[in-house]
Amino acid sequence: MKKEPVRFGIVGLKRGLCALSLLREDNVLLTAVCDSDPAALAAAKETIRSELAACGKTQEVGYFSSYEELLRTDVEAVYIANYATEHVPLVIQALEAGKHVISEIPTVDTLEEARALKAAVAAHPELKYMAGENCCYWAFIQAWKQMYREGKLGQAVYAEAEYLHCADWRSMKPENYPREHWRFDHPAIKYLTHSLGPLLDILDDHCVSVSCMVPDVKYNPYRDKPKTGVALFKTAKGAVIRILIGFDAYVGMDHNYYVMGTRGTLETDRTAPLETASTYAKFADVPGTYYNKLEIPLHLSFPGESTAGHGGADHKMLMDFIRCIQEDTRPPLDVDAGIRMSLPGIIAHESSLRGGELLTIPEL
Ligand SMILES: NC(=O)c1ccc[n+]([C@@H]2O[C@H](COP(=O)([O-])OP(=O)(O)OC[C@H]3O[C@@H](n4cnc5c(N)ncnc54)[C@H](O)[C@@H]3O)[C@@H](O)[C@H]2O)c1
Repeated sequence: MKKEPVRFGIVGLKRGLCALSLLREDNVLLTAVCDSDPAALAAAKETIRSELAACGKTQEVGYFSSYEELLRTDVEAVYIANYATEHVPLVIQALEAGKHVISEIPTVDTLEEARALKAAVAAHPELKYMAGENCCYWAFIQAWKQMYREGKLGQAVYAEAEYLHCADWRSMKPENYPREHWRFDHPAIKYLTHSLGPLLDILDDHCVSVSCMVPDVKYNPYRDKPKTGVALFKTAKGAVIRILIGFDAYVGMDHNYYVMGTRGTLETDRTAPLETASTYAKFADVPGTYYNKLEIPLHLSFPGESTAGHGGADHKMLMDFIRCIQEDTRPPLDVDAGIRMSLPGIIAHESSLRGGELLTIPEL
């Protein structure tokens, strides 16, 4: 058991700033941050200074525009939150420099990257690699997982999840986003880990084949790519999973989940905002749930927990990573889990390019 605080670094100071919640913890010391964009680095410097002052801490933080420089410091663990399609090269660099890694999602952008990531993690058994899928840390997802593992639903037959997140297309003008951005430019179905990740975690399963379709309807006049994808997966245990990712039509912002087992169902309430949506359930063992659904008051966080940072999930995920380093345990979302939640999106995208052809998802 490591007693000293873990020296922690961040690369990518937009989403990466969610890790500033760690400043309030005594077992973590933020020692280095990095962004190649001078404006992002300067803005982060201001934010970090005021956050440190707010928690009464005085530690030295190194500010770097070069990732290589950050890796040359005595930082022990790095949170990789750079561009969505460029995580793997930075992860491999960190592992080769002897640093533990938590990587933002999608964990991999290509099949070749998945192979390279798996090999790099295997080459460094002394280091931790964790996939940073925060939605797996939502309280209702963790409770569904426990209920499923206890057998309350029987065996999964079908599950579905949706991530819907449109932006006002007027903000997507090329001058506002001079380079590609995950939300506007990448194939939507490749951004499926917030949906597929929690389902696979609940079901303890993985996808073996996929057929995916992408609508031809285009909404944003500034971006040429349709940003909605619908994929049907078959899993190793024989269930079917449907995933819908929609970034362009007017869908607002929502996540929906549904699990159907041989002895019951669990679903989120589509009529309520995510923050307040309860779970609705039917159980063969609970009288009265043949026609009616049982409302279970499960939300993003458990009662009394902080709701900051995606309903408290960001902080719980980061603290799990820190705990794995201190206690020398395997991260719950390890490299296999990370690949199993991202690779299906890559193959689904391939399927959509081939008109929905059923494709096998390689097992690595
Ligand atoms: N889990 C979640 O809820 C969640 C939410 C938002 C974003 N994300 C993920 O986080 C990642 C970042 O998202 P974002 O919206 O902040 O993206 P972004 O593209 O807006 O920002 C990325 C930042 O990383 C910096 N950067 C890129 N390459 C770098 C390098 N080699 N060295 C130093 N800095 C570098 C850029 O300058 C930029 O400031 C993406 O993978 C995204 O998918 C996850």
